[in-house]
Amino acid sequence: MTRVLVTGGSGFIGRHVVRALLADGHDVVVADRDEHPDVPTVVGELEDAGVRDRAVTEDVGVVVHLAAETSVLGSVERPVKVHSVNVDVTAALLELARQRGVEAFVMASTNAVVGGYDGTFTESVPLRPLTPYGATKAAAEMLLSGYAGAYGLRAPVLRLTNVYGPGMKAKDSFVPRMLKAAARDEGVQVYGDGLQRRDLVHVHDVARAFALAVSPSWPGGPSIIGSGSSVTVLDMLEAARAASGRAIAAEHVPAKAGEMPAVVVDIARARSLGWAPEVSLTEGMATAWDDLSTRV
Ligand SMILES: NC(=O)c1ccc[n+]([C@@H]2O[C@H](COP(=O)([O-])OP(=O)(O)OC[C@H]3O[C@@H](n4cnc5c(N)ncnc54)[C@H](O)[C@@H]3O)[C@@H](O)[C@H]2O)c1
Repeated sequence: MTRVLVTGGSGFIGRHVVRALLADGHDVVVADRDEHPDVPTVVGELEDAGVRDRAVTEDVGVVVHLAAETSVLGSVERPVKVHSVNVDVTAALLELARQRGVEAFVMASTNAVVGGYDGTFTESVPLRPLTPYGATKAAAEMLLSGYAGAYGLRAPVLRLTNVYGPGMKAKDSFVPRMLKAAARDEGVQVYGDGLQRRDLVHVHDVARAFALAVSPSWPGGPSIIGSGSSVTVLDMLEAARAASGRAIAAEHVPAKAGEMPAVVVDIARARSLGWAPEVSLTEGMATAWDDLSTRV
């Protein structure tokens, strides 16, 4: 049993990760702005050195670092804030991890580190992020790499695609937008023709990936965590209609500048490490609808 600190453990993905770690028998603590309902929480801003100091105690074996400014659009509006949380806080936590003998530091990253790329994303595609969000996650990945190289810290990075599932009420990505519209018998805006391809991965599968990455056999460096089979925005809408039984009319509006035509990822590395996605889009959308329809 390892003591695992989960930063951002009260968030959407964090709550599922905490549950998966508890199920594996770990001793879990959370550091977050918001108190976690089930596990001890260091409540506060991780930009505050005192909060970090109380979070990374000498008995922490592994840090799972999820706390971040997660909005891509928000990062375009507030690049300095995003740098402070996503880079400076990560650097400070890594340094505490080094000083306090933490064995591993696992971080949530994103395929937005790759930026505009036409081919299938693998872990070896060069990083050319196109937004402050992507840039700060790429910078944080590099910090982990440096600490791994210099101090032998095991530093796995999980590059998540679009995560969906129960617990998304506060989110504004396309899946919750569709399902909230369904609950209100409204329609949704679809950018362009809706044939853009995206990779959706269920939060249950993501949580299992973090639980695996905590174990000593998972190596450092990046691994892409996605479904490995991309779907169009119109396919997502069909799945939401099937799950909700609602019409969810589509209003096609002009595509946003810079929107990627396709995100297609290769998950061979994660598969080779013993992880595989289990939840289909049909099943997954049903879990998201069951959760959201009772909360809207
Ligand atoms: N949701 C996705 O589709 C997705 C995709 C790729 C990567 N990620 C990454 O996964 C991680 C978790 O994302 P999420 O969707 O669960 O986000 P979320 O916003 O639901 O959760 C983030 C949590 O971190 C906490 N937090 C953020 N900044 C903090 C700070 N300065 N001090 C203290 N607490 C702070 C928030 O209170 C929140 O509970 C993030 O690092 C995000 O970049 C998410």
